[in-house]
Amino acid sequence: MTIQWFPGHMAKARRQVTEKLKLIDIVFELVDARIPLSSRNPMIDEIISNKPRIILLNKADMADPRITKQWLEYFNSKGSTTKAIAIDSQEGKGIQQISVLSKELLKEKFDKMQSRGIRPRAIRALIVGIPNVGKSTLINRLAKKNIAQTGDRPGITKAQQWVKVGKELELLDTPGILWPKFEDQEVGYRLATTGAIKDTIIVLQDIAVFALRFLTKHYPEQLKKRYNLDEIPEEIVELFDAIGSKRGCMMSGGYIDYDKTAELIIREIRSEKLGKLSFESPEQQ
Ligand code: G4P
Repeated sequence: MTIQWFPGHMAKARRQVTEKLKLIDIVFELVDARIPLSSRNPMIDEIISNKPRIILLNKADMADPRITKQWLEYFNSKGSTTKAIAIDSQEGKGIQQISVLSKELLKEKFDKMQSRGIRPRAIRALIVGIPNVGKSTLINRLAKKNIAQTGDRPGITKAQQWVKVGKELELLDTPGILWPKFEDQEVGYRLATTGAIKDTIIVLQDIAVFALRFLTKHYPEQLKKRYNLDEIPEEIVELFDAIGSKRGCMMSGGYIDYDKTAELIIREIRSEKLGKLSFESPEQQ
C-alpha cells in the first residue's frame, strides 16, 4: 500500500489518532525493528503525549538480533511510561508479552480505579504506525476471530469495533495510520530499502547504492559471501559491475544492466538472502 501524504492528509490522520486516544488506556506503537527510528512518525511523542506506550519492534525476525537488543535498551531507558519489546507478528512470536506488559504499565491506574469502586474492565489499546509496518498482521494475530462489536459504552459516540485479546485486553480494530519522516532523505532510503515504501519515487539504483554503501560499512562479510567477492571494490560502480556480472545481469553487448542489478540487490536484501540486517542502530544516532 502506498499512500501519498499531503499536509491535509497528515492533519486528518493526526486528528483521527487524537480522537481515538480518548477511548483508550495505552498505545501500541508499531515500528520496523530494522529501522526503528526511520519507521516512526516524527510527531509521535507530541501526538501520544503522556499516554502509556509499548513500542513494538515488529519484523524482528528480519532484523540483526544484536542491534535489536541495543534498541530495546535504548527505548526501555526512555522513562517509566514507555516499554519496548521485539515481536514477529507474522509468526506471533513475542506477542503474548504485550498483554503482560500492558498490565504492568497500567497497574497503578487500574488499582486506583478499583479503590474508587469502579468495576474492573479490560485494558483498551490502540495500534499506531506508518503504512506497511505490520499493523493489520498484528491485529489479525491478536484477534483470533475475537472481533466484537461493542458500541454501547458511555462516551463512545460512534460504534467502534473492538478486538478482544484474552479477557484483559481489547484493541480498537482500526489502527492509527501515521506518516513517516519524509523530509529526511536518509530516512527515505531506509524505508525504501526495507520495503516500507514500494512504488517509490526514489530511483531503484539510488536505493541500491545507499544499501550497498551501508552493507560495505556494516555487513561486509554478508555482502562478500552472498556475491562471492574476495574483496569489496571501493568504487560503488565497480561493486555494481562485480555483482551484475556474477549474477548475469547483462545487456546486449556485454554491458552491465544496472537497473536489473539494483533490483536484484534490493529484492535479495528484502527477502533476507543476505541474512538478518538492521539499517540503523542507536550508536549511529
Ligand atoms: P500495515 O497494516 O501496517 O500496512 O502492514 P501489514 O500488516 O499489511 O504488513 C505489511 C507486510 O509486512 C505484509 O507482507 C506482512 O505479511 C509483513 N509483516 C508484518 N509483520 C511481519 C513480521 O513480524 N515479520 C515479517 N517478516 N513480515 C511481517 P505482505 O502482505 O507480503 O506484503 P509485502 O511483503 O509485499 O509488503
